[in-house]
Amino acid sequence: MKILVTGSNGLLGQKIVAQAIKHAIPFFATSIGENRNSNCPEQNYCALDITNRSEVMECIKRYNPTHILHTAAMTNVDQCELNPEACRTVNILAVEYLFSAAKEVNAHFQLLSTDFVFDGEKGNYSEEDNVNPLSVYADSKVQAEKLLLMDNYTNWSIVRTIIVYGVGENLSRTNIVCWAKSALQKGETLTIVDDQFRSPTWADDLAWACLEIAQREERGIFHISGPETMSIYALVRRIAEYYNLPTDSLKKSKSSELNHPANRPPKTGFDLTKAKNRLGYAPKTIEETLDLI
Ligand SMILES: NC(=O)c1ccc[n+]([C@@H]2O[C@H](COP(=O)([O-])OP(=O)(O)OC[C@H]3O[C@@H](n4cnc5c(N)ncnc54)[C@H](OP(=O)(O)O)[C@@H]3O)[C@@H](O)[C@H]2O)c1
Repeated sequence: MKILVTGSNGLLGQKIVAQAIKHAIPFFATSIGENRNSNCPEQNYCALDITNRSEVMECIKRYNPTHILHTAAMTNVDQCELNPEACRTVNILAVEYLFSAAKEVNAHFQLLSTDFVFDGEKGNYSEEDNVNPLSVYADSKVQAEKLLLMDNYTNWSIVRTIIVYGVGENLSRTNIVCWAKSALQKGETLTIVDDQFRSPTWADDLAWACLEIAQREERGIFHISGPETMSIYALVRRIAEYYNLPTDSLKKSKSSELNHPANRPPKTGFDLTKAKNRLGYAPKTIEETLDLI
């Protein structure tokens, strides 16, 4: 097994690199620009802009991986809404380049996707549920999934996940859990929605699942998230309670009051039966991870 990771400077990319090192899995890490993860040896790193078709093909042919774990994406939902062309280039066109390179070298191709492919009316989504994207970001992931779903080449997996959290080095963006902990510690007033329900996912659990799916050569769609669905407000309250931080500065709000550019599904959350049965996936609760943050 020889894996190639895209987006290795991102949160999930960093966790995959860490687990590959821990389990002595040969790997090659790529991301846009220089290597910002000091745990990733320079000899294992190569700058790769996934939107450059010839760079993608050249890099993949040179390393000749058995597995490609594609975590890189334009991940800020509101930025995607405001810059739809950039979003489609990174989240759809680049997947086309990477997937065709994967086919050239006969590698297993793994695409990271999102709970936002659903409209959030039902909740507890299984892999068989119908998608109905509400935003440019969500639609870009649906279109990227389609590239795989409609191809004759079936050596691929799609890993959908929900609010990924954890600590990383020099990340270009934070996540709700780290941000809330820091803001609560500073006593800042936090206005948090109580009408969006999610299952927050410990990045280390997700990285484990991505590697497990790759190692087992699993094909098809997998839903990978934390074990519990809660409102974002309830999540932040649990963080405050865990660290014994005051909650008087915590205010409830509704999504409609925030005027975000992108629409978000009200209630997602995943049915994890497939991941538990096929992979032995056993995700940690919020409280089990907070000491590790
Ligand atoms: N985070 C979540 O809550 C969440 C939820 C559902 C699904 N997902 C999906 O899970 C995957 C991993 O998410 P994450 O949390 O690790 O995201 P992340 O921390 O934002 O990492 C994404 C990485 O992609 C890199 N990237 C962006 N454009 C690129 C390009 N043109 N070429 C090469 N690399 C590029 C970014 O580089 P820079 O670091 O230089 O910006 C970043 O390192 C993504 O596909 C995301 O859509 C995430």
